[in-house]
Amino acid sequence: MHVAVLGGTGKTGRAVVAALAQGGVSARPLGRSAFEDLPAALSGADAVHVIAPNLHADEPAYVGSVLAAAREAGIGRLTYHSVASPYAPSMPHHLGKAVAEDLVRRSGLRWTILQPCAYVQNFVAALRAVPAEGGDLEVPYAVDTPFGLVDLDDVAAATAVVLTGPGHDGATYELGGPATVTVAHVGAAASEVLGRPVTARRTDPGAWRGDGLDDRERTWLRAMFAYYDDHGLPTGPLPLAALLATVGRTPTTVGATLARELAGTS
Ligand SMILES: NC(=O)c1ccc[n+]([C@@H]2O[C@H](COP(=O)([O-])OP(=O)(O)OC[C@H]3O[C@@H](n4cnc5c(N)ncnc54)[C@H](OP(=O)(O)O)[C@@H]3O)[C@@H](O)[C@H]2O)c1
Repeated sequence: MHVAVLGGTGKTGRAVVAALAQGGVSARPLGRSAFEDLPAALSGADAVHVIAPNLHADEPAYVGSVLAAAREAGIGRLTYHSVASPYAPSMPHHLGKAVAEDLVRRSGLRWTILQPCAYVQNFVAALRAVPAEGGDLEVPYAVDTPFGLVDLDDVAAATAVVLTGPGHDGATYELGGPATVTVAHVGAAASEVLGRPVTARRTDPGAWRGDGLDDRERTWLRAMFAYYDDHGLPTGPLPLAALLATVGRTPTTVGATLARELAGTS
């Protein structure tokens, strides 16, 4: 079996390519240059996994072009990397995924949609930077709202299950971690793993600068912070647990994910 992974050169895509390779499946990571001739880039693949770039300005157009190319290249099977709670109209990048999901469902292809929660890995760079005497894990939203934070490696393993096994056509799976947690929990788990105090702290979202981003990206992320501030991003644990059970795995806790990701941090 051969899988083309769009967005395969990014953070999520590299994890998916690695999970497929671990199962003996050949995977072709594709980045933005694939869009110069998408049908050619997809040709010969048995399935395509679609990951859009973070905060894409027009995710439905991105996904729509992949659907058209997949049909032209004669690829019958497609999986789409969406997000938990896509229909959240106050968050434009979630809403783009909700609209794109609709395109996938009406594509005429055999499809599966995956809706991961935010990854535990999102906190790793900040945690690596906590000084030896301890410090803060700062986020511009509440540290006590509920999240189903998930290990990206578990999301990738579940994606490989869906791409390689039967019974997933027409399914939409929310992929949340094994427990409902908060950013305060992440700080506490990091304290244990690093052996130094880490305190989660909400910073003023109005003071968040978003260096390196353009105005639209900043606005969209501010909308996400406001949503997280009020609601978090809770998910249920069961779909991920069921998918991983088919390959003898259980979902990884926040603490275990951090222990793996922060190993060797000085
Ligand atoms: N982070 C989370 O917690 C989380 C949770 C749920 C869902 N997601 C979703 O996961 C997706 C991927 O996030 P990520 O952090 O893995 O992304 P990423 O590391 O930024 O990867 C981006 C990928 O998209 C490609 N790309 C960039 N600009 C492009 C363009 N204009 N046209 C076509 N391809 C382009 C890149 O190719 P090049 O190598 O050629 O640049 C790369 O393969 C996002 O849609 C995000 O919303 C993230």
